[in-house]
Amino acid sequence: MSDGSSFYITTPIFYVNDVPHIGHAYTEVAADVLARWHRQAGDDTWLLTGTDEHGQKILRTATANGTTPKEWADRLVSTEWLPLLKTIDIANDDFIRTTDVRHEQNVQRFLQKLYDDGYIYAGEYEALYCVGCEEFKPQSEIIDGTGEYEGQKVCAIHSKPLELLQEKNYFFRMSQFADALLALYEENPEFVQPESARNEVVSFVRQGLSDLSISRSSFDWGIKVPWDESHVVYVWFDALLNYVTAVGYGQDDENFARRWPATHIVGKDILRFHAVIWPAMLLAAGLDVPHRVFGHGWLLVGGEKMSKSKLTGIAPTQITDTFGSDAFRYYFMRAISFGQDGSFSWEDLAARYQAELANGFGNLASRVIAMVTRYFEGVVPPAGRYEEADLAVQATITDATAAADAAIEKLAIHDALSAIWTIVDELNGYITAQEPWSLAKDETQRERLSTVLYTASEGLRALAVLLSPVVPVATLKLWQALGAEDELGALDEQPIRSAGDWGQLPAGTTVNGLEALFPRIDADAVPGA
Ligand code: ME8
Ligand code: MG
Repeated sequence: MSDGSSFYITTPIFYVNDVPHIGHAYTEVAADVLARWHRQAGDDTWLLTGTDEHGQKILRTATANGTTPKEWADRLVSTEWLPLLKTIDIANDDFIRTTDVRHEQNVQRFLQKLYDDGYIYAGEYEALYCVGCEEFKPQSEIIDGTGEYEGQKVCAIHSKPLELLQEKNYFFRMSQFADALLALYEENPEFVQPESARNEVVSFVRQGLSDLSISRSSFDWGIKVPWDESHVVYVWFDALLNYVTAVGYGQDDENFARRWPATHIVGKDILRFHAVIWPAMLLAAGLDVPHRVFGHGWLLVGGEKMSKSKLTGIAPTQITDTFGSDAFRYYFMRAISFGQDGSFSWEDLAARYQAELANGFGNLASRVIAMVTRYFEGVVPPAGRYEEADLAVQATITDATAAADAAIEKLAIHDALSAIWTIVDELNGYITAQEPWSLAKDETQRERLSTVLYTASEGLRALAVLLSPVVPVATLKLWQALGAEDELGALDEQPIRSAGDWGQLPAGTTVNGLEALFPRIDADAVPGA
Protein backbone atom coordinates (compact mmCIF):
# COMPACT_ATOMS: atom_id res chain seq x y z
CA MET A 1 0.00 0.00 0.00
CA SER A 2 1.51 3.34 -0.96
CA ASP A 3 1.89 6.24 1.44
CA GLY A 4 -1.11 8.48 1.68
CA SER A 5 -3.63 5.84 0.66
CA SER A 6 -6.83 5.51 2.63
CA PHE A 7 -6.89 3.01 5.46
CA TYR A 8 -10.23 2.72 7.24
CA ILE A 9 -10.35 0.07 9.95
CA THR A 10 -13.17 -0.94 12.27
CA THR A 11 -13.85 -3.08 15.32
CA PRO A 12 -17.26 -4.62 15.95
CA ILE A 13 -19.58 -2.35 17.88
CA PHE A 14 -20.07 -4.08 21.20
CA TYR A 15 -23.32 -4.88 22.97
CA VAL A 16 -23.86 -2.71 26.00
CA ASN A 17 -25.79 -5.34 27.91
CA ASP A 18 -22.70 -5.93 30.02
CA VAL A 19 -19.20 -4.74 30.83
CA PRO A 20 -16.14 -5.29 28.62
CA HIS A 21 -13.78 -8.21 29.15
CA ILE A 22 -10.37 -8.97 27.69
CA GLY A 23 -11.91 -10.50 24.55
CA HIS A 24 -13.34 -7.12 23.54
CA ALA A 25 -10.09 -5.43 24.54
CA TYR A 26 -8.20 -7.90 22.36
CA THR A 27 -10.10 -6.87 19.23
CA GLU A 28 -9.66 -3.19 20.10
CA VAL A 29 -5.91 -3.56 20.54
CA ALA A 30 -5.45 -5.45 17.27
CA ALA A 31 -7.36 -2.82 15.30
CA ASP A 32 -5.51 -0.04 17.13
CA VAL A 33 -2.07 -1.51 16.41
CA LEU A 34 -2.93 -1.76 12.71
CA ALA A 35 -4.32 1.78 12.72
CA ARG A 36 -1.31 3.25 14.53
CA TRP A 37 1.02 1.48 12.11
CA HIS A 38 -0.76 2.87 9.07
CA ARG A 39 -1.10 6.33 10.60
CA GLN A 40 2.61 6.38 11.29
CA ALA A 41 3.24 5.23 7.73
CA GLY A 42 1.44 8.32 6.47
CA ASP A 43 -1.68 6.54 5.26
CA ASP A 44 -4.98 8.41 5.53
CA THR A 45 -6.09 6.39 8.53
CA TRP A 46 -9.39 6.20 10.37
CA LEU A 47 -10.13 3.87 13.30
CA LEU A 48 -13.78 3.40 14.20
CA THR A 49 -15.18 1.62 17.23
CA GLY A 50 -18.44 1.94 19.15
CA THR A 51 -21.45 0.33 20.75
CA ASP A 52 -24.45 -1.69 19.61
CA GLU A 53 -27.41 -0.53 21.69
CA HIS A 54 -30.68 -1.74 20.19
CA GLY A 55 -32.39 -5.11 20.24
CA GLN A 56 -33.96 -7.52 22.64
CA LYS A 57 -30.82 -8.39 24.57
CA ILE A 58 -30.24 -4.78 25.68
CA LEU A 59 -33.95 -4.22 26.27
CA ARG A 60 -34.18 -7.26 28.56
CA THR A 61 -31.06 -6.31 30.49
CA ALA A 62 -32.32 -2.76 31.03
CA THR A 63 -35.75 -3.99 32.11
CA ALA A 64 -34.20 -6.51 34.51
CA ASN A 65 -32.24 -3.63 36.02
CA GLY A 66 -35.33 -1.46 36.38
CA THR A 67 -34.35 1.14 33.82
CA THR A 68 -34.95 2.14 30.20
CA PRO A 69 -32.68 0.80 27.47
CA LYS A 70 -31.41 4.27 26.56
CA GLU A 71 -30.53 5.10 30.17
CA TRP A 72 -28.87 1.74 30.53
CA ALA A 73 -26.84 2.25 27.36
CA ASP A 74 -25.82 5.78 28.39
CA ARG A 75 -24.63 4.47 31.73
CA LEU A 76 -22.65 1.54 30.33
CA VAL A 77 -21.07 3.64 27.59
CA SER A 78 -19.87 6.30 30.02
CA THR A 79 -18.83 4.07 32.91
CA GLU A 80 -17.48 1.08 30.99
CA TRP A 81 -17.04 1.22 27.24
CA LEU A 82 -15.43 4.64 26.86
CA PRO A 83 -13.11 4.07 29.85
CA LEU A 84 -12.02 0.75 28.29
CA LEU A 85 -10.40 2.71 25.46
CA LYS A 86 -8.28 4.65 27.98
CA THR A 87 -7.37 1.51 29.92
CA ILE A 88 -5.74 -0.08 26.89
CA ASP A 89 -4.64 3.10 25.09
CA ILE A 90 -6.83 3.00 22.01
CA ALA A 91 -6.31 5.97 19.67
CA ASN A 92 -9.67 5.74 17.90
CA ASP A 93 -10.76 8.51 15.57
CA ASP A 94 -14.46 8.07 16.20
CA PHE A 95 -16.88 6.24 18.48
CA ILE A 96 -20.29 5.49 17.08
CA ARG A 97 -23.37 4.55 19.08
CA THR A 98 -26.29 3.04 17.22
CA THR A 99 -28.53 5.47 19.11
CA ASP A 100 -26.72 8.42 17.47
CA VAL A 101 -29.01 10.46 15.22
CA ARG A 102 -26.42 10.29 12.41
CA HIS A 103 -26.78 6.52 12.51
CA GLU A 104 -30.55 6.16 12.99
CA GLN A 105 -31.42 8.56 10.17
CA ASN A 106 -29.13 6.97 7.65
CA VAL A 107 -30.12 3.42 8.53
CA GLN A 108 -33.64 4.50 7.61
CA ARG A 109 -32.36 6.04 4.41
CA PHE A 110 -30.54 2.83 3.47
CA LEU A 111 -33.58 0.69 4.25
CA GLN A 112 -35.91 2.92 2.30
CA LYS A 113 -33.64 2.68 -0.72
CA LEU A 114 -33.63 -1.12 -0.59
CA TYR A 115 -37.41 -1.09 -0.18
CA ASP A 116 -37.90 1.29 -3.12
CA ASP A 117 -35.61 -0.87 -5.24
CA GLY A 118 -37.63 -4.02 -4.50
CA TYR A 119 -35.20 -5.84 -2.25
CA ILE A 120 -37.58 -5.96 0.70
CA TYR A 121 -40.95 -7.69 1.07
CA ALA A 122 -43.37 -8.59 3.85
CA GLY A 123 -43.69 -12.22 4.91
CA GLU A 124 -44.45 -14.65 7.70
CA TYR A 125 -41.78 -16.30 9.73
CA GLU A 126 -41.43 -18.98 12.37
CA ALA A 127 -38.00 -20.05 13.57
CA LEU A 128 -35.75 -20.57 16.56
CA TYR A 129 -34.11 -17.37 17.78
CA CYS A 130 -31.11 -16.91 20.10
CA VAL A 131 -31.27 -13.61 21.99
CA GLY A 132 -27.58 -13.99 22.93
CA CYS A 133 -26.63 -14.02 19.24
CA GLU A 134 -29.60 -11.87 18.22
CA GLU A 135 -30.07 -14.31 15.37
CA PHE A 136 -32.44 -16.91 13.93
CA LYS A 137 -30.17 -19.91 14.14
CA PRO A 138 -29.31 -22.11 11.17
CA GLN A 139 -29.76 -25.89 11.74
CA SER A 140 -26.00 -26.35 12.04
CA GLU A 141 -25.91 -24.23 15.19
CA ILE A 142 -28.85 -25.77 17.01
CA ILE A 143 -28.00 -28.52 19.47
CA ASP A 144 -29.80 -30.54 22.16
CA GLY A 145 -29.62 -29.03 25.62
CA THR A 146 -28.12 -30.87 28.56
CA GLY A 147 -28.50 -30.55 32.35
CA GLU A 148 -31.09 -27.92 33.25
CA TYR A 149 -31.94 -27.53 29.53
CA GLU A 150 -32.45 -31.26 28.87
CA GLY A 151 -35.12 -31.75 26.20
CA GLN A 152 -34.79 -28.21 24.83
CA LYS A 153 -33.02 -26.90 21.75
CA VAL A 154 -30.09 -24.66 22.67
CA CYS A 155 -27.66 -22.35 20.84
CA ALA A 156 -24.31 -23.99 20.11
CA ILE A 157 -22.50 -20.77 21.06
CA HIS A 158 -24.42 -19.63 24.14
CA SER A 159 -25.69 -23.04 25.37
CA LYS A 160 -28.97 -21.32 26.26
CA PRO A 161 -32.46 -22.33 25.10
CA LEU A 162 -33.69 -20.93 21.80
CA GLU A 163 -37.02 -19.15 21.53
CA LEU A 164 -39.58 -20.06 18.89
CA LEU A 165 -40.64 -16.81 17.25
CA GLN A 166 -43.54 -16.41 14.91
CA GLU A 167 -44.08 -12.99 13.43
CA LYS A 168 -44.96 -11.02 10.37
CA ASN A 169 -41.62 -9.59 9.28
CA TYR A 170 -40.02 -7.71 6.47
CA PHE A 171 -37.48 -9.74 4.54
CA PHE A 172 -34.36 -8.79 2.64
CA ARG A 173 -33.93 -10.78 -0.59
CA MET A 174 -30.53 -12.08 0.43
CA SER A 175 -31.02 -15.31 -1.51
CA GLN A 176 -30.52 -13.33 -4.72
CA PHE A 177 -26.95 -12.57 -3.78
CA ALA A 178 -25.47 -16.02 -3.29
CA ASP A 179 -23.86 -16.15 -6.72
CA ALA A 180 -22.51 -12.62 -6.51
CA LEU A 181 -20.99 -13.42 -3.12
CA LEU A 182 -19.39 -16.62 -4.38
CA ALA A 183 -17.93 -14.68 -7.29
CA LEU A 184 -16.60 -12.10 -4.84
CA TYR A 185 -14.86 -14.73 -2.68
CA GLU A 186 -13.46 -16.28 -5.83
CA GLU A 187 -12.19 -13.11 -7.46
CA ASN A 188 -10.88 -11.60 -4.27
CA PRO A 189 -9.47 -14.43 -2.14
CA GLU A 190 -8.26 -11.91 0.46
CA PHE A 191 -11.79 -10.68 1.11
CA VAL A 192 -12.40 -13.08 3.99
CA GLN A 193 -9.46 -13.99 6.19
CA PRO A 194 -7.90 -16.07 7.56
CA GLU A 195 -8.06 -18.94 5.07
CA SER A 196 -9.97 -21.23 7.47
CA ALA A 197 -12.65 -18.58 7.90
CA ARG A 198 -12.88 -18.08 4.17
CA ASN A 199 -13.43 -21.77 3.54
CA GLU A 200 -16.19 -21.89 6.11
CA VAL A 201 -17.95 -18.90 4.60
CA VAL A 202 -17.66 -20.26 1.05
CA SER A 203 -19.14 -23.62 1.97
CA PHE A 204 -21.93 -21.90 3.90
CA VAL A 205 -22.91 -19.78 0.91
CA ARG A 206 -22.58 -22.71 -1.51
CA GLN A 207 -25.49 -24.36 0.29
CA GLY A 208 -27.61 -21.43 -0.84
CA LEU A 209 -28.89 -18.45 1.13
CA SER A 210 -32.33 -17.81 2.58
CA ASP A 211 -33.90 -14.39 2.65
CA LEU A 212 -33.22 -12.54 5.87
CA SER A 213 -35.82 -11.34 8.33
CA ILE A 214 -34.91 -7.71 8.96
CA SER A 215 -37.63 -6.36 11.20
CA ARG A 216 -39.33 -7.17 14.50
CA SER A 217 -42.73 -6.05 15.75
CA SER A 218 -43.04 -7.66 19.20
CA PHE A 219 -40.96 -4.92 20.91
CA ASP A 220 -40.00 -1.39 19.99
CA TRP A 221 -36.41 -0.81 21.12
CA GLY A 222 -34.85 -0.14 17.76
CA ILE A 223 -34.89 2.04 14.68
CA LYS A 224 -38.37 2.34 13.19
CA VAL A 225 -38.91 0.88 9.74
CA PRO A 226 -39.58 4.08 7.76
CA TRP A 227 -42.67 2.87 5.85
CA ASP A 228 -44.16 0.84 8.73
CA GLU A 229 -43.59 2.25 12.18
CA SER A 230 -45.05 -0.80 13.88
CA HIS A 231 -41.74 -2.53 13.11
CA VAL A 232 -38.22 -1.88 14.28
CA VAL A 233 -35.15 -2.79 12.23
CA TYR A 234 -33.51 -6.11 13.10
CA VAL A 235 -30.57 -5.28 15.36
CA TRP A 236 -27.89 -6.81 13.13
CA PHE A 237 -29.13 -5.01 10.02
CA ASP A 238 -29.00 -1.80 12.07
CA ALA A 239 -25.61 -2.57 13.62
CA LEU A 240 -23.73 -3.50 10.44
CA LEU A 241 -24.66 -0.17 8.91
CA ASN A 242 -22.59 1.65 11.57
CA TYR A 243 -19.55 1.15 9.37
CA VAL A 244 -21.00 3.39 6.69
CA THR A 245 -23.14 5.79 8.73
CA ALA A 246 -20.06 6.72 10.78
CA VAL A 247 -18.19 7.95 7.72
CA GLY A 248 -20.96 9.91 6.09
CA TYR A 249 -23.19 7.49 4.19
CA GLY A 250 -26.35 9.36 3.30
CA GLN A 251 -25.13 12.75 4.45
CA ASP A 252 -21.50 13.45 3.55
CA ASP A 253 -20.64 11.92 0.20
CA GLU A 254 -17.16 13.39 0.13
CA ASN A 255 -16.13 11.86 3.43
CA PHE A 256 -17.78 8.60 2.53
CA ALA A 257 -15.80 8.43 -0.72
CA ARG A 258 -12.62 9.25 1.18
CA ARG A 259 -13.00 6.49 3.79
CA TRP A 260 -15.05 3.64 2.40
CA PRO A 261 -14.41 0.67 1.94
CA ALA A 262 -13.11 -0.55 5.29
CA THR A 263 -11.02 -3.35 6.71
CA HIS A 264 -13.23 -5.03 9.33
CA ILE A 265 -11.64 -6.76 12.30
CA VAL A 266 -14.12 -9.03 14.06
CA GLY A 267 -14.15 -12.16 16.21
CA LYS A 268 -14.92 -15.37 14.33
CA ASP A 269 -18.25 -15.63 16.22
CA ILE A 270 -19.62 -12.87 14.01
CA LEU A 271 -17.73 -13.55 10.82
CA ARG A 272 -20.74 -14.74 8.86
CA PHE A 273 -22.65 -11.50 9.51
CA HIS A 274 -19.71 -9.56 8.12
CA ALA A 275 -18.71 -11.82 5.25
CA VAL A 276 -22.18 -12.81 4.01
CA ILE A 277 -25.04 -10.57 5.18
CA TRP A 278 -23.07 -7.32 5.13
CA PRO A 279 -21.67 -7.54 1.59
CA ALA A 280 -25.09 -8.71 0.36
CA MET A 281 -26.64 -5.57 1.88
CA LEU A 282 -24.00 -3.40 0.25
CA LEU A 283 -24.40 -5.07 -3.14
CA ALA A 284 -28.14 -4.49 -2.97
CA ALA A 285 -27.54 -0.81 -2.26
CA GLY A 286 -25.01 -0.51 -5.07
CA LEU A 287 -22.14 0.29 -2.67
CA ASP A 288 -18.62 -1.12 -2.60
CA VAL A 289 -18.12 -4.22 -0.48
CA PRO A 290 -15.56 -4.03 2.38
CA HIS A 291 -11.90 -4.19 1.55
CA ARG A 292 -11.35 -7.13 3.90
CA VAL A 293 -13.08 -9.00 6.69
CA PHE A 294 -10.73 -10.60 9.16
CA GLY A 295 -12.16 -13.03 11.73
CA HIS A 296 -9.74 -13.43 14.62
CA GLY A 297 -9.75 -16.30 17.09
CA TRP A 298 -11.22 -16.50 20.57
CA LEU A 299 -9.60 -16.04 23.93
CA LEU A 300 -10.43 -19.26 25.69
CA VAL A 301 -11.03 -20.02 29.34
CA GLY A 302 -11.01 -23.70 30.22
CA GLY A 303 -11.09 -24.47 26.48
CA GLU A 304 -14.26 -22.43 25.91
CA LYS A 305 -14.81 -18.94 24.48
CA MET A 306 -14.49 -16.41 27.25
CA SER A 307 -17.85 -14.72 27.53
CA LYS A 308 -19.93 -12.37 29.59
CA SER A 309 -22.99 -14.59 29.32
CA LYS A 310 -21.02 -17.52 30.76
CA LEU A 311 -19.45 -15.30 33.44
CA THR A 312 -15.91 -16.23 32.45
CA GLY A 313 -14.94 -12.68 31.54
CA ILE A 314 -11.72 -11.18 32.92
CA ALA A 315 -11.79 -7.38 33.20
CA PRO A 316 -8.95 -5.68 31.28
CA THR A 317 -8.08 -3.59 34.36
CA GLN A 318 -7.22 -6.80 36.22
CA ILE A 319 -4.25 -7.06 33.88
CA THR A 320 -3.42 -3.40 33.29
CA ASP A 321 -3.52 -2.49 37.01
CA THR A 322 -0.55 -4.78 37.57
CA PHE A 323 1.25 -4.95 34.24
CA GLY A 324 0.27 -1.71 32.54
CA SER A 325 -1.43 -1.11 29.20
CA ASP A 326 1.70 -1.70 27.11
CA ALA A 327 2.17 -5.19 28.51
CA PHE A 328 -1.49 -5.96 27.83
CA ARG A 329 -1.13 -4.86 24.23
CA TYR A 330 2.18 -6.60 23.68
CA TYR A 331 1.18 -9.86 25.29
CA PHE A 332 -1.98 -10.48 23.30
CA MET A 333 -0.45 -9.38 20.02
CA ARG A 334 2.68 -11.49 20.53
CA ALA A 335 1.45 -14.63 22.24
CA ILE A 336 -1.49 -15.41 19.94
CA SER A 337 -1.16 -15.87 16.19
CA PHE A 338 -3.72 -13.40 14.89
CA GLY A 339 -6.51 -15.54 13.49
CA GLN A 340 -6.09 -18.45 15.92
CA ASP A 341 -7.64 -19.10 19.32
CA GLY A 342 -5.49 -18.57 22.38
CA SER A 343 -5.73 -19.53 26.04
CA PHE A 344 -5.01 -16.71 28.40
CA SER A 345 -2.78 -17.59 31.33
CA TRP A 346 -1.39 -15.38 34.09
CA GLU A 347 1.80 -17.47 34.20
CA ASP A 348 2.45 -16.98 30.51
CA LEU A 349 1.76 -13.26 30.76
CA ALA A 350 4.10 -12.87 33.75
CA ALA A 351 6.82 -14.94 32.07
CA ARG A 352 6.72 -12.99 28.81
CA TYR A 353 6.60 -9.71 30.69
CA GLN A 354 9.77 -10.60 32.54
CA ALA A 355 11.71 -12.27 29.74
CA GLU A 356 10.73 -10.18 26.72
CA LEU A 357 9.65 -6.77 27.94
CA ALA A 358 11.67 -6.27 31.14
CA ASN A 359 14.84 -8.26 30.39
CA GLY A 360 14.82 -8.21 26.60
CA PHE A 361 13.72 -4.72 25.63
CA GLY A 362 13.61 -2.65 28.85
CA ASN A 363 17.04 -3.67 30.04
CA LEU A 364 18.59 -3.09 26.66
CA ALA A 365 17.27 0.45 26.63
CA SER A 366 18.45 1.22 30.18
CA ARG A 367 21.93 -0.20 29.59
CA VAL A 368 22.55 1.69 26.38
CA ILE A 369 21.31 5.01 27.80
CA ALA A 370 23.37 4.43 30.96
CA MET A 371 26.55 3.74 28.96
CA VAL A 372 26.11 6.83 26.78
CA THR A 373 25.65 8.79 30.01
CA ARG A 374 28.67 7.26 31.73
CA TYR A 375 31.18 7.10 28.86
CA PHE A 376 30.17 10.14 26.78
CA GLU A 377 28.63 12.53 29.33
CA GLY A 378 25.19 11.83 27.95
CA VAL A 379 25.90 12.83 24.36
CA VAL A 380 25.38 10.27 21.60
CA PRO A 381 28.85 9.81 20.08
CA PRO A 382 29.52 9.70 16.34
CA ALA A 383 30.10 6.41 14.55
CA GLY A 384 33.61 5.74 13.25
CA ARG A 385 34.40 3.04 10.70
CA TYR A 386 31.72 0.33 10.69
CA GLU A 387 32.83 -3.25 11.18
CA GLU A 388 31.04 -6.45 10.27
CA ALA A 389 29.15 -6.68 13.57
CA ASP A 390 27.85 -3.13 13.18
CA LEU A 391 26.76 -3.76 9.62
CA ALA A 392 24.95 -6.90 10.80
CA VAL A 393 22.91 -4.74 13.19
CA GLN A 394 22.04 -2.39 10.35
CA ALA A 395 21.01 -5.28 8.10
CA THR A 396 18.83 -6.79 10.83
CA ILE A 397 17.00 -3.50 11.26
CA THR A 398 16.46 -3.02 7.53
CA ASP A 399 15.19 -6.56 7.10
CA ALA A 400 12.99 -6.41 10.20
CA THR A 401 11.35 -3.19 9.04
CA ALA A 402 10.48 -4.62 5.64
CA ALA A 403 9.31 -7.93 7.14
CA ALA A 404 7.18 -6.19 9.77
CA ASP A 405 5.49 -3.96 7.22
CA ALA A 406 4.76 -6.92 4.96
CA ALA A 407 3.31 -8.82 7.93
CA ILE A 408 1.09 -5.87 8.92
CA GLU A 409 -0.15 -5.70 5.34
CA LYS A 410 -1.30 -9.33 5.77
CA LEU A 411 -2.73 -8.49 9.22
CA ALA A 412 -0.22 -10.93 10.75
CA ILE A 413 0.50 -8.77 13.79
CA HIS A 414 2.30 -11.56 15.65
CA ASP A 415 4.70 -11.98 12.71
CA ALA A 416 5.40 -8.27 12.66
CA LEU A 417 6.32 -8.44 16.35
CA SER A 418 8.56 -11.46 15.84
CA ALA A 419 10.33 -9.60 13.04
CA ILE A 420 10.83 -6.51 15.19
CA TRP A 421 12.06 -8.64 18.06
CA THR A 422 14.97 -9.85 15.95
CA ILE A 423 16.33 -6.32 16.53
CA VAL A 424 16.03 -6.67 20.31
CA ASP A 425 17.85 -9.99 20.18
CA GLU A 426 20.47 -8.76 17.75
CA LEU A 427 21.24 -5.67 19.84
CA ASN A 428 21.46 -7.65 23.07
CA GLY A 429 23.85 -10.10 21.41
CA TYR A 430 25.82 -7.23 19.92
CA ILE A 431 26.38 -5.57 23.27
CA THR A 432 27.38 -8.82 24.92
CA ALA A 433 29.89 -9.48 22.13
CA GLN A 434 31.28 -5.93 21.85
CA GLU A 435 31.64 -5.44 25.62
CA PRO A 436 31.55 -1.65 25.61
CA TRP A 437 32.51 -1.71 29.33
CA SER A 438 35.83 -3.33 28.36
CA LEU A 439 36.38 -0.92 25.46
CA ALA A 440 35.81 1.93 27.92
CA LYS A 441 38.82 0.84 29.97
CA ASP A 442 41.17 1.20 26.99
CA GLU A 443 41.84 4.74 25.74
CA THR A 444 43.03 3.38 22.33
CA GLN A 445 39.54 1.89 21.81
CA ARG A 446 37.77 5.22 22.16
CA GLU A 447 36.64 5.35 18.53
CA ARG A 448 35.46 1.76 18.62
CA LEU A 449 33.45 2.46 21.79
CA SER A 450 31.96 5.46 20.05
CA THR A 451 30.88 3.37 17.04
CA VAL A 452 29.38 0.66 19.25
CA LEU A 453 27.35 3.08 21.32
CA TYR A 454 26.21 5.00 18.27
CA THR A 455 25.10 1.74 16.71
CA ALA A 456 23.24 0.71 19.87
CA SER A 457 21.58 4.13 20.27
CA GLU A 458 20.52 4.25 16.65
CA GLY A 459 19.20 0.71 17.05
CA LEU A 460 17.05 1.92 19.95
CA ARG A 461 15.82 4.76 17.77
CA ALA A 462 14.59 2.24 15.21
CA LEU A 463 13.05 0.04 17.90
CA ALA A 464 11.15 2.95 19.41
CA VAL A 465 9.70 3.83 16.02
CA LEU A 466 8.75 0.26 15.10
CA LEU A 467 7.31 -0.65 18.51
CA SER A 468 5.41 2.56 19.05
CA PRO A 469 2.14 1.18 17.58
CA VAL A 470 2.24 -1.72 20.04
CA VAL A 471 3.76 -0.24 23.21
CA PRO A 472 3.12 3.50 22.89
CA VAL A 473 3.84 4.37 26.54
CA ALA A 474 7.24 2.70 26.87
CA THR A 475 8.46 3.81 23.46
CA LEU A 476 7.55 7.41 24.22
CA LYS A 477 9.66 7.24 27.40
CA LEU A 478 12.49 5.78 25.36
CA TRP A 479 12.10 8.44 22.70
CA GLN A 480 12.41 11.15 25.34
CA ALA A 481 15.35 9.41 26.97
CA LEU A 482 17.12 9.25 23.60
CA GLY A 483 16.62 12.98 23.23
CA ALA A 484 15.13 12.16 19.85
CA GLU A 485 12.09 14.39 20.16
CA ASP A 486 14.13 17.60 19.82
CA GLU A 487 16.09 16.27 16.88
CA LEU A 488 13.56 14.22 14.97
CA GLY A 489 10.16 15.39 16.16
CA ALA A 490 7.27 13.47 17.71
CA LEU A 491 7.58 9.71 17.92
CA ASP A 492 4.17 9.01 16.41
CA GLU A 493 5.13 11.08 13.39
CA GLN A 494 8.20 9.04 12.51
CA PRO A 495 7.62 7.39 9.13
CA ILE A 496 7.46 3.74 10.04
CA ARG A 497 8.23 2.25 6.64
CA SER A 498 11.60 3.99 6.62
CA ALA A 499 12.41 3.18 10.24
CA GLY A 500 15.16 0.92 8.91
CA ASP A 501 17.06 3.69 7.11
CA TRP A 502 20.32 3.92 8.99
CA GLY A 503 21.71 7.00 10.67
CA GLN A 504 18.63 9.03 11.56
CA LEU A 505 19.59 9.79 15.17
CA PRO A 506 22.18 12.57 14.92
CA ALA A 507 25.43 12.20 16.83
CA GLY A 508 25.57 14.95 19.45
CA THR A 509 22.04 14.29 20.68
CA THR A 510 21.78 14.59 24.46
CA VAL A 511 20.18 11.64 26.22
CA ASN A 512 18.11 11.89 29.38
CA GLY A 513 17.78 9.53 32.33
CA LEU A 514 15.51 6.54 31.78
CA GLU A 515 13.48 4.88 34.50
CA ALA A 516 12.87 1.14 34.04
CA LEU A 517 10.50 0.77 31.08
CA PHE A 518 9.04 -2.43 32.53
CA PRO A 519 9.62 -2.51 36.28
CA ARG A 520 9.96 -5.81 38.09
CA ILE A 521 6.59 -7.16 39.27
CA ASP A 522 6.15 -8.94 42.57
CA ALA A 523 4.85 -12.47 42.13
CA ASP A 524 2.24 -11.72 44.86
CA ALA A 525 0.81 -8.95 42.68
CA VAL A 526 -0.15 -11.36 39.88
CA PRO A 527 -3.82 -12.26 40.39
CA GLY A 528 -4.00 -15.80 39.08
CA ALA A 529 -0.41 -16.96 39.53
O1 ME8 B 1 -21.40 -9.49 18.57
N1 ME8 B 1 -12.21 -13.80 22.43
O2 ME8 B 1 -21.12 -7.76 20.06
P1 ME8 B 1 -20.43 -8.49 21.29
C1 ME8 B 1 -11.93 -12.88 21.50
N2 ME8 B 1 -22.82 -6.27 18.79
N3 ME8 B 1 -12.76 -11.88 21.17
C2 ME8 B 1 -13.93 -11.81 21.81
C3 ME8 B 1 -14.29 -12.74 22.80
C4 ME8 B 1 -13.36 -13.77 23.10
N4 ME8 B 1 -13.60 -14.68 24.03
N5 ME8 B 1 -15.51 -12.41 23.26
C5 ME8 B 1 -15.89 -11.30 22.58
C6 ME8 B 1 -21.59 -8.34 18.92
N6 ME8 B 1 -14.94 -10.94 21.71
C7 ME8 B 1 -22.32 -7.37 18.03
C8 ME8 B 1 -21.39 -6.91 16.94
S1 ME8 B 1 -20.81 -5.51 14.75
C9 ME8 B 1 -21.68 -4.72 13.56
C10 ME8 B 1 -21.98 -5.98 15.93
C11 ME8 B 1 -14.98 -9.79 20.80
O3 ME8 B 1 -20.48 -7.49 22.41
C12 ME8 B 1 -14.88 -10.23 19.35
O4 ME8 B 1 -14.48 -9.13 18.58
O5 ME8 B 1 -21.01 -9.82 21.53
C13 ME8 B 1 -16.31 -10.57 19.06
O6 ME8 B 1 -16.59 -10.65 17.68
C14 ME8 B 1 -17.01 -9.40 19.72
O7 ME8 B 1 -16.24 -9.18 20.92
C15 ME8 B 1 -18.46 -9.64 20.03
O8 ME8 B 1 -18.91 -8.60 20.83
MG1 MG C 1 -21.39 -11.83 21.75
